[in-house]
Amino acid sequence: QKVAVGRAHSKLILIGEHSVVYGQPAIAFPFKQIEVKVTVKTIGGNTIQIESPFYQGPIEQIPEKMEGIGDCVIQTLKVLEKRSSGLHIRIASSIPIGRGLGSSAAIAIALVRGLFAFFNQSLKDSQLMALVERAEKFAHGTPSGIDMMAASSANPIWFQKQQEVEMVKIGAPFHLVVADSGRIGDTYSAVKSIRDKYERKPKQIEESITLLGKLTEDVRLGLAVGDYQKVGDKLNQAHQQLSLLGVSDLGLDGLVEAARTAGAVGAKLTGGGRGGCILALVENETIGKKVADALVQAGATQTWQYTIAKC
Ligand code: MEV
Repeated sequence: QKVAVGRAHSKLILIGEHSVVYGQPAIAFPFKQIEVKVTVKTIGGNTIQIESPFYQGPIEQIPEKMEGIGDCVIQTLKVLEKRSSGLHIRIASSIPIGRGLGSSAAIAIALVRGLFAFFNQSLKDSQLMALVERAEKFAHGTPSGIDMMAASSANPIWFQKQQEVEMVKIGAPFHLVVADSGRIGDTYSAVKSIRDKYERKPKQIEESITLLGKLTEDVRLGLAVGDYQKVGDKLNQAHQQLSLLGVSDLGLDGLVEAARTAGAVGAKLTGGGRGGCILALVENETIGKKVADALVQAGATQTWQYTIAKC
């Protein structure tokens, strides 16, 4: 029996979510502690069987909210010019769904990698991106593409739509605490709500978006020289702008506040918002532990400590 595996890790947006949809830059990291693993193997019969935490059964009957996954399998097999039958595809993920951690992009990346590995084909970056972009449109509507770039990158990235991805210089290692509110956010509707507001109040939204772009530039400079007070301050300001845009909520504001009170240099929501996760910048791991405890006290269902290495 033939077996192949495809993997992809999670992603973390440090700053620039939402404004990135409007052409502003964003900074994101690979978040390697949590990942998706796809196992592809042969089975008898003529079907493609999907086994996942959310659905088990033939691909034809995949529920509507997983349509992107079904489509991704079919499209990948098309690109591979392979017969679409006799396959068992198992999706296992330690990335919580709908928390702004890029689970949908990671699932698509792992699927494409797994299927290419199964058929012993080498996968070009351009092929991967085209297939994942299509899957992401099912999940997000109008994705900027940052999730799939960060989830397939080994290093921190500077991302701007329609531009080459750049490396981000990290002058000194720094620590983040990520906390899950435990609530599923809806990136699709968060992105759409800003779009609706933009149509009604273009000036006000434009201002926040431009400011978020400027804050992202400042964070890049701060990271390059290891000035984490400055970075933390900009992260706080970014959270305020995201609140003004209407994508934070009381729960996320509460976690951000708890992180700051416990000693974080800065904290903000990460990803689409309205549920999902926050991240906090801390000076060292000892403070990180204190901040993580405070976040759990404040209702976080899970926390992760994350160190970004100098590069
Ligand atoms: C979602 O992880 C990030 C958003 O900026 C949407 C996108 O860029 O596609 C909210």
